[in-house]
Amino acid sequence: MLLLRNISLLQFKNYKQSEFRFDRRLVGICGRNGVGKTNLLDAIYYLCFTRSYFTKSDALNQSQGSAGFRIEAAFSLGNQHEAVLCILRENGKKEFLRNGEGYEKFSDYVGKFPCVMVAPDDLHMITGGSEERRRFLDTLLCQLDPNYLKCLIKYNRTLQQKNSHLRALAEKRQDDNQLLDVYDSQLMESGNSIFQKRKEFTSGLIESIKKFYFEIAGRPEALELDYESQLLERGFDQLLKDSRERDLITQRSTAGIQRDEIEIKLMDQSFRAIASQGQRKSLLFAMKMAEFEILKKEKGFAPILLLDDVFEKLDEGRMSNLLNWACIRNEGQVFITDTHCQRIIREFQELGVEGQQIHL
Ligand SMILES: Nc1ncnc2c1ncn2[C@@H]1O[C@H](COP(=O)(O)OP(=O)(O)O)[C@@H](O)[C@H]1O
Ligand SMILES: [Mg+2]
Repeated sequence: MLLLRNISLLQFKNYKQSEFRFDRRLVGICGRNGVGKTNLLDAIYYLCFTRSYFTKSDALNQSQGSAGFRIEAAFSLGNQHEAVLCILRENGKKEFLRNGEGYEKFSDYVGKFPCVMVAPDDLHMITGGSEERRRFLDTLLCQLDPNYLKCLIKYNRTLQQKNSHLRALAEKRQDDNQLLDVYDSQLMESGNSIFQKRKEFTSGLIESIKKFYFEIAGRPEALELDYESQLLERGFDQLLKDSRERDLITQRSTAGIQRDEIEIKLMDQSFRAIASQGQRKSLLFAMKMAEFEILKKEKGFAPILLLDDVFEKLDEGRMSNLLNWACIRNEGQVFITDTHCQRIIREFQELGVEGQQIHL
């Protein structure tokens, strides 16, 4: 069983210097708006993923007016004690240490402490563009396979280089195919690994999402999810050859795994176009539960579940079932935030679990 025992924050967002101890599997964090509930969950997420759930920019995570931050924490995993230290130095350099040992590559660290976040804005995963669903898929795969994250970093870096080269060529009105060929062969190398992994993995993921969705909805609905990729139709080599002319005209790489999508349909129509608010929420919960279940199965222990403002913004009715499922049936540690302390206390009582309450 994975448990976060304590966390101390220095210059992280609104926390100048704070320490929290956790002694239960169910932790309720309550307080009025703006007091730092989401930030505390994000600090936990940061420890697991080496980045914030909400922003790519580390500068936004350091307390305003300060340079750098520090997050220190202790987990227990079975009878093993795990000490983690994250330092963002004043010069922007980031370090992660686990039991005193630093990590050369963060991809080797991500996944050691698996975690699933559910936040109100996650509904974008269903209503937003394809990058939201790719991010969902990538977040899960990165925790399962360090090599996947390495390939993804490599691919995105090459993609940026290729795009800036395409822009430079357009400015100079040249076409330098040689360098484009080099970029393309690099894209193929990392991109093919990413594609293979996504293809292998998504069928199980989709089955799991559908299973949870039908459970939550209480009846079978005509829900279909499909992994779509240009690479399902053509080899990467051919795909890049075919898109070269278009890339030069549009000055960006128009083909590849950056266009992958998980298409969602209800009764053969676009889910986001026809699904009700309730159906969207059900699907969001189903996706997160599938993520949780797969992580548990692969790691052999439940991930930490972070639930931000779910009572208020997502669904009070479905929450009890989710808490029961994650905390009791799956023995996972759950952190849940709410503006109403009473609502959390009532929920704990109904579950029959002695939870810890933190008033911020
Ligand atoms: N980098 C930062 N430095 C200082 N304060 C910050 C920073 N980022 C966010 N905050 C502050 O944190 C508060 C919001 O915290 P948040 O965790 O979202 O609150 P809650 O979830 O309890 O409503 C706001 O008052 C915001 O100004
Ligand atoms: Mg909040």
